Amino acid sequence: MTHRDDPITPGDAPRGASQDAIEALSREDRTFPPPPGFADQANVRDPDVYERAAADPEGYWAKAARSLDWYRPWDTVLSWDPPNARWFDGGQLNVSVNCLDRHVASGHGDKVAYYWEGEPGDRTRITYAELLAEVCRCANALRGLGVGRGDKVAVYMPMILEMPIAMLACTRIGAVHTVVFGGFSAESLRDRINDAGAKLVVTADGGYRRGKPSALKVNVDDAIADGQAPSVERVLVARRTGQDVTMVEGRDIWWDEVVPRQAPECEPERMESEDPLYLLYTSGTTAKPKGIVHTTAGYLLGAAHTHRTVFDIKDDDVYWCAADIGWVTGHSYILYGPLANRTTGVMYEGTPDFPAPDRWWDIVERYRVSVLYTAPTAIRAHMKWGPQHAAGHDLSSLRLLGSVGEPINPEAWVWYHHHIGGDRCPVVDTWWQTETGAIMIAPLPGLTTTKPGSASRPLPGIEADIVDGDGNPVPPGSGGYLVVKGPWPAMLRGIHGDPERFQKTYWDRFPGTYFPGDGARRDEDGDYWLMGRVDDVMNISGHRLSTTEIESALVSHQSVAEAAVVGTPDDLTGEAIAAFVILKLGTEPSVAFGDELRQHVAAKIGPIAKPKTLLFTPDLPKTRSGKIMRRLLRDIAAGRSLGDTTTLADADVVETIRDASRAGRDEE
Ligand code: PRX
Repeated sequence: MTHRDDPITPGDAPRGASQDAIEALSREDRTFPPPPGFADQANVRDPDVYERAAADPEGYWAKAARSLDWYRPWDTVLSWDPPNARWFDGGQLNVSVNCLDRHVASGHGDKVAYYWEGEPGDRTRITYAELLAEVCRCANALRGLGVGRGDKVAVYMPMILEMPIAMLACTRIGAVHTVVFGGFSAESLRDRINDAGAKLVVTADGGYRRGKPSALKVNVDDAIADGQAPSVERVLVARRTGQDVTMVEGRDIWWDEVVPRQAPECEPERMESEDPLYLLYTSGTTAKPKGIVHTTAGYLLGAAHTHRTVFDIKDDDVYWCAADIGWVTGHSYILYGPLANRTTGVMYEGTPDFPAPDRWWDIVERYRVSVLYTAPTAIRAHMKWGPQHAAGHDLSSLRLLGSVGEPINPEAWVWYHHHIGGDRCPVVDTWWQTETGAIMIAPLPGLTTTKPGSASRPLPGIEADIVDGDGNPVPPGSGGYLVVKGPWPAMLRGIHGDPERFQKTYWDRFPGTYFPGDGARRDEDGDYWLMGRVDDVMNISGHRLSTTEIESALVSHQSVAEAAVVGTPDDLTGEAIAAFVILKLGTEPSVAFGDELRQHVAAKIGPIAKPKTLLFTPDLPKTRSGKIMRRLLRDIAAGRSLGDTTTLADADVVETIRDASRAGRDEE
């Protein structure tokens, strides 16, 4: 196994995009101007907004920031000493006040904040006034459990209302939440708790997944057993499934025994603009996930402003972001953006095809959803199940559709536009990352003529570009590396506890310029076509996973000598995980052992990290300097021709692997 450092190797080609995909994109010439009637009512109508923002980005963001509620206005809009940005220094505010109190104070307490739908079909709704009271109760409970300003709180929960309540409660008292997706294993949870130094964990007994209760608390117990997560003092447990859990005396406490008896008011902390708001771990190109740091004012502004402009949010919209709050999409576009904009949202606990493939369309019809935001992988799944499921429901409430998480293939875009949007809804393909905090590249639906497969162009106030290996902008019609040249309010402020990695990962490749790790092409009109990652990060169903993290999990098995993991194109999930494994002497390759290894990876990282293809091989192709030739492995996994292999230390290896690949590919 080789461990590459975070920055990419110059010359790496954008990967998610196969040659076929690039060619297909070049043939894509359909255009979709803003639909009649949409442009007239859009939140952003003035085409000069791009130029005005480019001429004075600080002025643009300062104007937008006035829509937030401040205890104290800022002294300075921006201090920029690359890579360190400080936005709105001197300003003081509280995120929960911006998301809740001000809406209740302005007479909107009875407005629904969330329609919540559980997977088994149970339903509830919560108004802004009720949400505020619950958040205050939870905040008081957290304070009572010893959590204060600056303390870290891990949140490991299913998609139940207690999850946003706990997160908002943290923001009320200045605690820093770190949400860990409920699909991650006990070990992944432990690593994140320890890296963050979390003092308290909020969890639930379990959650529902495809009709069955799945356990969560037991993973928390495993994660912190035997002093393995020494920072954790208390565990707060919400009841969801009613399954049996072990409660450790003095450490674990039921939510319903402590939260409901608290007062429904709680004095919010006055936070500084640059106080940390949350950490969210994401995969990089080494085995250790990065704790991305977001701070208070800039992040909230970025989430709220983009939510309002890109989704054209109005007061009577019913907005549904069908993501999990465990990922950044849920943070920015289920929680912070929508609540700051006083939006009515839908929150759904389960999977799209349970109990039937029309579950989503039933939800859209019942709540009269007007804006839907999801990932291409979900759209492709719906395409596979067929348009009849959507056709059986009244989707006429929809007026805008969003896409996020991975490049959207034009077929999926057009299907979404036609079968879900009834040819009348603008589709906004939104490019961004955990690190960017908010959408960076996307259409403005009242202004932009969209093209299926293109995320259009950087939003006003965002100074992005596509450059060649030397940092020079590429001409129209060419591909290169996506970069962001100036600071933006919601940008990450660092990697928790690792300033060196922060510098090296994002800022060294093109000095002083943010490098997200994506390849992109610019077309003749200046529109951006995102082409996927150029580093060792994979994108599986819109989820980021590191090849090296999975390699580490594989080699931690006692029978594995070496492993290489690559992403390979997949019609449904965008990319799929392919693993090449060399076994130690004495272990025989078998389908059963392949399954054991997959389970091992699931236990180490989580089920989403299980390789789809697992190939036992006697050797791995390496360069003379000993680096695994991933591109070659990707080609083998994708069944493509191998091209020039002269840089191989031992060309025979290729033949062996290729033969092995032909003979013994073991697919799930
Ligand atoms: O490669 C890009 C891809 O997802 C990566 C970010 O992953 P994550 O931090 O998990 O955030 C996902 C949700 C924001 C990016 O580096 N990506 C995200 N959105 C798009 C995309 N690729 C192409 N088009 C998009 N719209």
